[in-house]
Amino acid sequence: MAKGFYISKTLGVVGIVVGAGAVATIIALSVVYSQEKSKNIEVGPVTTVKPPPIVTATPTLTPDPTPTPVPTPDPTPVPTPVPTSAPSDPWHKYRLPDSLMPDTYNVTLWPRLEPGELGLYIFTGNSIVIFRCLKETDLILIHSNKLNLTLFDGFHAKLHAVDGPAPPAIKKTWLQKETQFLVVQLNGNLTAGLSYELYTEFQGELADDLGGFYRSEYYEDGVKKVVATTQMQPTDARKAFPCFDEPAMKAIFNIILIHQRGTVALSNGMDIDTVNTTIDSTAVTQTTFEPTKKMSTYLLAFIVSEFDHDMAMEENVLIRIWARRKAIAEKQGIYALNKTGPILKFFESYYNSQYPLSKSDQIALPDFNAGAMENWGLITYRETALLYDEEMSSNGNKERIATIIAHELAHMWFGNLVTLKWWNDLWLNEGFASYVEYLGADHAEPTWGMKDMIVLNDVHRVFAIDALASSHPLSSKEEEINKPEQISELFDAISYSKGASVLRMLSEFLTEDIFVRGLRSYLAEFAFSNTVYTDLWDHLQMAVNETNTILPTTVHEIMNRWVLQMGFPVVTINTKTGDVSQQHFLLDPNSIPDRPSDYNYEWFVPIKWMKTGMDQGQYWLLKTSATNNNMTVTGADWVLANINVTGYYRVNYDLDNWNRLLAQLDSNHQAIPSINRAQLVDDAFNLARANKIKTTLALSTTKYLSQERDYMPWESALDNLNYFTLMFDRTAVFGPMQAYLRNQVGHLFEHFKQITDNWTKIPEGHTDQYNQVNAIRMACRTGVEGCEELTTGWYNDWRRNPDNNTIHANLRTTVYCSAIAAGDVAEWDFGWKMFLNASLASEAEKLRSALACTKQPWLLNRYLEYTLDPTKIRKQDATSTIVYIANNVVGQPLAWDFVRTRWDYIFTEYGGGSFSFSNLINGVTKRFSTDFELKQLQQFKEDNAQGGLGSGTLALDQSIERTKANIKWLADNHKQVKEWFENESKPKNNFRE
Ligand SMILES: *[C@@H]1O[C@H](CO)[C@@H](O)[C@H](O)[C@H]1NC(C)=O
Ligand SMILES: *[C@@H]1O[C@H](CO)[C@@H](O)[C@H](O)[C@H]1NC(C)=O
Ligand SMILES: [Zn+2]
Repeated sequence: MAKGFYISKTLGVVGIVVGAGAVATIIALSVVYSQEKSKNIEVGPVTTVKPPPIVTATPTLTPDPTPTPVPTPDPTPVPTPVPTSAPSDPWHKYRLPDSLMPDTYNVTLWPRLEPGELGLYIFTGNSIVIFRCLKETDLILIHSNKLNLTLFDGFHAKLHAVDGPAPPAIKKTWLQKETQFLVVQLNGNLTAGLSYELYTEFQGELADDLGGFYRSEYYEDGVKKVVATTQMQPTDARKAFPCFDEPAMKAIFNIILIHQRGTVALSNGMDIDTVNTTIDSTAVTQTTFEPTKKMSTYLLAFIVSEFDHDMAMEENVLIRIWARRKAIAEKQGIYALNKTGPILKFFESYYNSQYPLSKSDQIALPDFNAGAMENWGLITYRETALLYDEEMSSNGNKERIATIIAHELAHMWFGNLVTLKWWNDLWLNEGFASYVEYLGADHAEPTWGMKDMIVLNDVHRVFAIDALASSHPLSSKEEEINKPEQISELFDAISYSKGASVLRMLSEFLTEDIFVRGLRSYLAEFAFSNTVYTDLWDHLQMAVNETNTILPTTVHEIMNRWVLQMGFPVVTINTKTGDVSQQHFLLDPNSIPDRPSDYNYEWFVPIKWMKTGMDQGQYWLLKTSATNNNMTVTGADWVLANINVTGYYRVNYDLDNWNRLLAQLDSNHQAIPSINRAQLVDDAFNLARANKIKTTLALSTTKYLSQERDYMPWESALDNLNYFTLMFDRTAVFGPMQAYLRNQVGHLFEHFKQITDNWTKIPEGHTDQYNQVNAIRMACRTGVEGCEELTTGWYNDWRRNPDNNTIHANLRTTVYCSAIAAGDVAEWDFGWKMFLNASLASEAEKLRSALACTKQPWLLNRYLEYTLDPTKIRKQDATSTIVYIANNVVGQPLAWDFVRTRWDYIFTEYGGGSFSFSNLINGVTKRFSTDFELKQLQQFKEDNAQGGLGSGTLALDQSIERTKANIKWLADNHKQVKEWFENESKPKNNFRE
């Protein structure tokens, strides 16, 4: 799965900062949200399952040779006794026993795109699973969740033998709700070595809960359209049909979809037969799909829609992009279509393994929780992650699309062909895809410098989370991860971004050649089966041995320290003595790690370093401290470590070396690689937060920015300075701080004004385009002369001529925000109208964020009201809109009041969904830094303790914790920061001083 909704660089413009914790929650959103939410809609006790109407169908649909009469609803439902059983009984455990193994499923599903009697959208279906008995047993456990199963002679299933003697009779069946099992107890034992088939018929709700088989809705020419679609990962295939829903239970799936005439049905395999038929006097189409490869249930997908598509062939593989008819007509699928073939080819050669399927479908859904999902052969996306418009999409939108496609296609092998045995190893699956997505995107867009982006997007972001005492290791023990919610919790920034960061470090110290060599033999050995993460280490070690590569110790020994213990080290280099030491880096130096480590929080650290632009070396730090005499310098020379930030650690130096590095930045910053300029800033600010260096030293790393033109260092500085903005934008520090930033940014603004011929062109380079946006955003925010006139002028041109928006797509979010901030109701209402009219999801997203920029309290309050009206703001966007408003310093108190007064409603609507909910609480309290605000928070917690805070409990506690930390940080730093900004913003003749 790709990360959940994504806040692009350009969206950052509105002042959204994806704070440390937010990244984690955004990623976790996908699964957690749907699960939590579906808990709320659960209806009806499991013990009184009524026989549902059945798909009575053409002969091919009734796999049972002796058709069973449709059981009529029984007024006294057969009581399904939940036995008075011991907790040790297998149906109380969440994991399947190892006695049975599925082989093939035949699944027929019929989603109804029109509501039924009670306004309920449903699907019906039946399924046969053929499974082998591996160990004698009188018990069949198979996952089934929220399905109403038809009873046959009082039992929820029918059992037959395949080629063998008749199986023992069924004794008892029931649904074990908590563990999501259909339990079938037999009168005798199944025989090891024999195969059996289990038949079920069922009805489920096609809810709008974004999990399992669910529905998405949109309007086309004023007509409501319904799409039936799926999101199975991690544990919702069992919501669509009874199945052995664990990743190691791979099987072949024969899928049939029954659907309204005129709709298109898609699944993992190619459709091989489509016939029109009539079932229960309903005219339908029945589409049969080719059997899948042997695969895991979480990668299944079934979709029925009225979508259209674009297509192309890449050698023997059919590539199709599916979306709303209008989007296809507007050519929004073309960019994805053009990039998919090359990326697919890239991964074929990277993995040295042919794409194993006959087709690759990718589909953009109006309602989709994650960013995208790697269903084998039928990848699902949010619209903003797949659809692109030449005129209206920004370069950031484009980058997101290329990257997510690469991420999902990477999974076709790593994850789908070879699958981790259990969810505890999710980090390897997601970390790997999150690393190689940069390689795939770099292949598709070689001029963008994609490979460097991982440093800002993943390494820096996850550092912030992994520096907390409450972080957790990449790897979890298999036995610790059992329940669906425990599985969902693993979809966090640690799994994705730290996973990606340490795999990149591994590939770098092994060299890409050896990394790829090991990877290829791993994929070849385990194709169509399952692994544990150490299998990859084994194959990498084989590659090391075969090539006689020198490592200080084994791949296992090195990687254990990064994978089994949380956090990362700060490496301190004393350039006078050559002493090099390491220490667990904690943002709060007084905090104590939540858990012990077998490795005492020490790592084997590969240190690539350089000396005043000359020597480069690689040095392994294998203990707490060591001495490397090469790392001593004299005079103006400096030492710089972690070149290109390929290592997952921070670096600190003796003060003299810091000062020499600062002098180098000031005199000729190009002598230090751009990524490392970004790193120096990020390390310095974080070392200051951890009390390892002075805050004023960190601030000094931003002084040279008046000469900096590159995107990475600017972005890094702006990320870090944003914390200062949040802390100080309501205090007397803000004035001097603005003056300082205005000075620094003014140079950048002038630079872009020049190279764009007075804003008539767009810079060539991809990252220059990003930095142009930074320049305009920061210039307008800090009041650089000419900026507001520029953005307001553009926006007003558009207002005068709404059919001709000439604002370049890259600049839209910033320009909209700045103009709406400077304007009044007319500007706002125009933006709102354009939002409602937008036919491209990413254009709507730009406006939705920009509308939160107004400084008019009444407009912000009105906008807040809109967020709870689904006819105005899509339900999936409600909480993020409130957070956008809270990011605005004027909107912050309004949003907090709004959330408090509407608490009951918001809690009912979103309280279950831990993603949106915790993000909401974190978002509206991010600025809190006074005793008064702390008291409000504590009061709020008390007031609502009775009704419960649901999934917001942790977020509220974190907010209280963070507010306390902010109060302390302000007390310690307020004075020196104020003086520093005052001093630095004094008029000077020479910026280089
Ligand atoms: C399952 O479907 C396949 C493919 O249509 C068919 O050949 C097979 O007979 C079916 N199996 C059963 C048990 O109905
Ligand atoms: C399943 O059965 C319960 C209890 O009879 C009922 O309330 C619910 O609507 C049924 N669900 C579907 C999708 O038919
Ligand atoms: Zn993924």
